[in-house]
Amino acid sequence: MFRVGRVFLKKKIYNASGVLSATKNELVSLNDNEWCGAVVSKSCTLEPREGNPHPRYYSFNGNSINSSGLPNLGYEYYRDLRHYIHKPYFMSVAGLTIQDNLTIFKDLNSYPEINIEFNVSCPNIPGKSQLGYDFKELNKTLNMIEEVYKLGYGLKLPPYFDPHHWDMVSNILLKHNIEFIVCINSLGNGLVYDKNLRTAIKPKNGLGGIGGPSIKPFGLSNVREFYRRLGNKISIVGCGGITSSEDVREYIHSGASACQVGTYLYEHGLQVFKALNFSRLN
Ligand code: DHB
Repeated sequence: MFRVGRVFLKKKIYNASGVLSATKNELVSLNDNEWCGAVVSKSCTLEPREGNPHPRYYSFNGNSINSSGLPNLGYEYYRDLRHYIHKPYFMSVAGLTIQDNLTIFKDLNSYPEINIEFNVSCPNIPGKSQLGYDFKELNKTLNMIEEVYKLGYGLKLPPYFDPHHWDMVSNILLKHNIEFIVCINSLGNGLVYDKNLRTAIKPKNGLGGIGGPSIKPFGLSNVREFYRRLGNKISIVGCGGITSSEDVREYIHSGASACQVGTYLYEHGLQVFKALNFSRLN
């Protein structure tokens, strides 16, 4: 069994939020895959959203750039799907304002069977910065959430690139009811061109979050550096560039107790869950 906060997974690999996770059909297909250890919803907001203009996803050399802009069916939709999920279920929460997050957390207090992965690292909402990079605001937000939400919860963190930042964030985590962290979300605000020198995606002048094998070294460093600081007090879920069982092994070696797969799942579909236990797809 693989531990993520207060829940135990029968398999150590599951989906990263945002991939195959927006509709009932997609979430049930993760539930029904025996090699997928848990189910994570698309990051949801208080109200449904259409997201950013298309094209908003582009793949290049096995990597991805996306600026989806939180398209989702509203948090109540994902809350009410809990009856269809018979393995650990995580709702990724990404309210647009503190007030929205407080409303969502307060309501989810009544559903202890739902685990919360609070997304503090979405890089794709025009005009909004990532909470995970504003340490004072992050601390303040977690304090406010814990006034209304009494269970433990997890955070989806952005990548950090500086030892002092790992120190600062670890100190904040240890002061709150954080049971697990997911390291890492996409590397925010990259730029990719197509072969005609047009930006590969349309929103935000082409800027978007980068995923896939290119970001794996940062996923590994973030898992290992948080593990060095947090030990076994907070579970760590590894995410970023996984395409093989060797990659999974490296994340576990760095301190992860489970792993999520994003870009590779998007590119190759549900077959990756079984394949990642053995070796690479062709
Ligand atoms: C989106 C992208 C992210 O990296 C994330 O963490 C949440 C949402 C998006 O654009 O929808």
